[in-house]
Amino acid sequence: MNTIHLHDKHFKHYIPANQIHKAIDTLAEQMNRELRDEPRPLLLSVLNGSFMFTADLIRKLEFDLELSFVKVASYSGTQSTGKVEEIIGLNCNVEGRTVVIVEDIVDSGVTIIKLVEMLKAYHPKQIKICTLLLKPEQYKQSLPLDYVALKIPNAFIVGYGLDYNSLGRQFPDIYVIDPTASSGAPSTT
Ligand code: IMP
Ligand code: MG
Repeated sequence: MNTIHLHDKHFKHYIPANQIHKAIDTLAEQMNRELRDEPRPLLLSVLNGSFMFTADLIRKLEFDLELSFVKVASYSGTQSTGKVEEIIGLNCNVEGRTVVIVEDIVDSGVTIIKLVEMLKAYHPKQIKICTLLLKPEQYKQSLPLDYVALKIPNAFIVGYGLDYNSLGRQFPDIYVIDPTASSGAPSTT
């Protein structure tokens, strides 16, 4: 499919599945090198967007790990609201452990910063950040991102787990918004 239509917007084909998988392979090699000596790192996959990425990533990881899914919400429509809720579903022991946050995408970084702050209260040994996608032009935080699979310009994307108002998560490829073909400008609220 070259274009998809979700709600009021059109999206163009952008990153094919094979390119996503290659980037994940390279990322997994880096994580295998750097995390294999850590005793059972705890991967915290941030739902909903990172479910597909997490499933593909952990199949490539060769060290003992624990996986847990957590939820935080900061987004509505195509613009970050900057609001972050509490961590939902954190039911394993974090104290003294290496925690790897697994995100679908880091945009402004507000979500990840809040999540790191909240996790610190549980006294982990260290917190590493892993994300499938990063929008470097948007990310203004000083917190370093340890594992980044793909960097993209500032545009709204869907597919491979990412949604536009709950639609578009199931596509194996990633699509980018086509402003010329979408009705109206992206919402700013
Ligand atoms: P941040 O707090 O601005 O870094 O936004 C992070 C969250 O916003 C991500 O975890 C996604 O859920 C969502 N998000 C950011 N950019 C996009 C996008 O291009 N498409 C879909 N969701 C996005
Ligand atoms: Mg997310």
